[in-house]
Amino acid sequence: MSKDILEIEKKIEEIISKLTLEEKSAMCHGNGLFRTGGVERLNIPPLKMSDGPMGVRNEFPDDSWMPIGNSDDYTTYLPCNTALAATWNTSLAHEAGVVLGNEARGRGKDVILGPGINIIRSPLCGRNFEYMSEDPYLISKLVVPLIKGIQENNDVAACVKHFAANNQETERLKVEVEIDERTLREIYLPGFEAAVKEGNSYSIMTAYNKLYGYYCSHSEQLIKEILEEEWGFDGVVVSDWGAVHDTVEAANSGLDIEMNVTYNFDDYFFAKPLVEAVKSGKVSEEVVNEKIRRILRMMYKINAFSEDRKRGIYNSSKHREKTLELARESIVLLKNEKNVLPLKDNKIKTLAVIGENANIIHSNGGGSAEIKALYEVTPLLGIKSRLGGQTEVKYAKGYDADKSKKEALINEAVELAKISDVVIIIGGLKHTDDDLQLENNALTVSKDQEIKHYVDSEGYDKTDLNLPYAQDELIKSVLEVNKNAVVVMLSGAPVKMTEWIDDVSAVVQTWYNGMEGGNALAEILFGDVSPSGKLPITFPRALEDSPAHKIGEFPGGKTVKYTEGIFVGYRYFSSYDVKPLFCFGHGLSYTDFKYEALDILINEVPEDTDISVKFKVTNAGDKDGAEVPQIYVRDLDASVERPKLELKGFDKVYLKAYETKEVEIKLNKKSLAFYSVEDKKWTVEPGTFEIFVGSSSEDIRLRKKFNLNSSYKF
Ligand code: BGC
Repeated sequence: MSKDILEIEKKIEEIISKLTLEEKSAMCHGNGLFRTGGVERLNIPPLKMSDGPMGVRNEFPDDSWMPIGNSDDYTTYLPCNTALAATWNTSLAHEAGVVLGNEARGRGKDVILGPGINIIRSPLCGRNFEYMSEDPYLISKLVVPLIKGIQENNDVAACVKHFAANNQETERLKVEVEIDERTLREIYLPGFEAAVKEGNSYSIMTAYNKLYGYYCSHSEQLIKEILEEEWGFDGVVVSDWGAVHDTVEAANSGLDIEMNVTYNFDDYFFAKPLVEAVKSGKVSEEVVNEKIRRILRMMYKINAFSEDRKRGIYNSSKHREKTLELARESIVLLKNEKNVLPLKDNKIKTLAVIGENANIIHSNGGGSAEIKALYEVTPLLGIKSRLGGQTEVKYAKGYDADKSKKEALINEAVELAKISDVVIIIGGLKHTDDDLQLENNALTVSKDQEIKHYVDSEGYDKTDLNLPYAQDELIKSVLEVNKNAVVVMLSGAPVKMTEWIDDVSAVVQTWYNGMEGGNALAEILFGDVSPSGKLPITFPRALEDSPAHKIGEFPGGKTVKYTEGIFVGYRYFSSYDVKPLFCFGHGLSYTDFKYEALDILINEVPEDTDISVKFKVTNAGDKDGAEVPQIYVRDLDASVERPKLELKGFDKVYLKAYETKEVEIKLNKKSLAFYSVEDKKWTVEPGTFEIFVGSSSEDIRLRKKFNLNSSYKF
């Protein structure tokens, strides 16, 4: 231990010796919806927390969920985590973190309740937009710089969430997840492990659900054994809001702070009941001291007691620029036939923009990820301001939750499309469910009928993969009168496109893409930049093609069984030869990239194997662009079942027109390993492996086998 750390540990013990049991309990639970209790007598301030992953949430009073409503909590709106993951850009992930941390501190917060990194197991999970990917490696590579960006130089703590296996909203408060250990280790934990071990997240939030018989906030196995003993986590474990159900179990499991959604703060499990549990000997005072130790340690890390603490800043122009850079790199060109895109602005006299998503904002919805954005450029605004006065841009709403309006809206859109040079349809999903009642026609829905959910939002999973509000009909009708209409999908998750995908030439995927999302979309559509986003999730043709749905295990009932095991996302599609609509890692550009000269160098030594994968990527076109070469590995001789493809490396390479660059990606024993439940260790067996270099998980450009003689267990 360094001298400074020893000094701090000494101070912490001194404080603990002065605290009464009641004061200790105050520090371990919410005493406001987003803060703990401080101890004024000893100058210990409360810990102030705030959601969330896309920006600092609006302010609430301590004891009400009605926002305060002043004008001082407008904030920078960052692209959602799915968008961030679609950039495949680790430096941008770092910069997103810097913005978020800086803004959190600027708003006077100690802890920002993000990032959310749960695995996207089903396309229907309502919170997919808050998460990153179906792939643990991609998540790990992005979450580490993101957390570092939040915490470094900002004197603020990240709180990575929701630990663990929180992959659906249906029955989210109590569902029991049944999952085998190998799957937990290979798929659901690596992101958290990286966040803790490499990202050094100062805090972590336990999930609502149960795992192996315990609520995650009560799980000694998760908190004590895995998080603290195995991963060496010395930070603070915070419960999700209302995720604690028992004082003694939660206290002894290692949970440090209990937060909740109700205002009866003195009755929280870690309030009076904790004091009583200590007095009656059910929880030892040393257990509580350890919580205080962790909380104070974090407070020292974020300089909470220092007069020179960083003050942060929010709403700076630099932050807004970063949101634009992120949004620009996150947009994915899914399909582009006949070079319909980019649109040639100088040839367009009349442009029709069709679809509600062109003209609404999203930042103010979605649940705890909602924010009060300083502004949000809609696609319509972005397109119109990009084109200026030489093009007449006309808008038609095209669809609406109100069924009675649909025919008229489609007719209006078709008439507009007929007289326009170019048509852009902007549809997809949204966060707000204001129209839920309307869409379900609540008055006529009987109690037994299922209420349908169509929104990307906390609290609900979507009912199906379909595009809501007759958008399929709209798109098909418009395509009949304008074959070259461009379709843009704006959502946080895939939607079904099979009804019209073969008839449309160009499809673009954008996301809840931050305050500059509309400008970024316009830049891509009109070719100011080449698209360089790649899908961080598989887009299936039909819901039944997704593994959890194929086996009928989503969303489960009281329990949900993850019987698809490790075959989540592309691991399933590639191994079982199921053709997705757009595969994991897919994303086109306005230029072409050529791959050549694969060279693999292997250096086997007893502790590790160093693998260097070298190849050349050339921009073969006359436009600048960026490509994301992806490295997948296959173990051909494994003694256990392994997926055909597993992502183990990637890079984002910026290439000027006709430029060539040599790319080197390093792999090691971890890249070849599976988790052996028998040995409780990561295991590498000797035998033949194959390395694939692809522009996506399907578009493999180079491949090579090699033999490994060594074996490893770690
Ligand atoms: C969500 C968390 C969020 C918390 C506080 C919970 O319902 O699951 O992600 O941070 O509320 O708003």
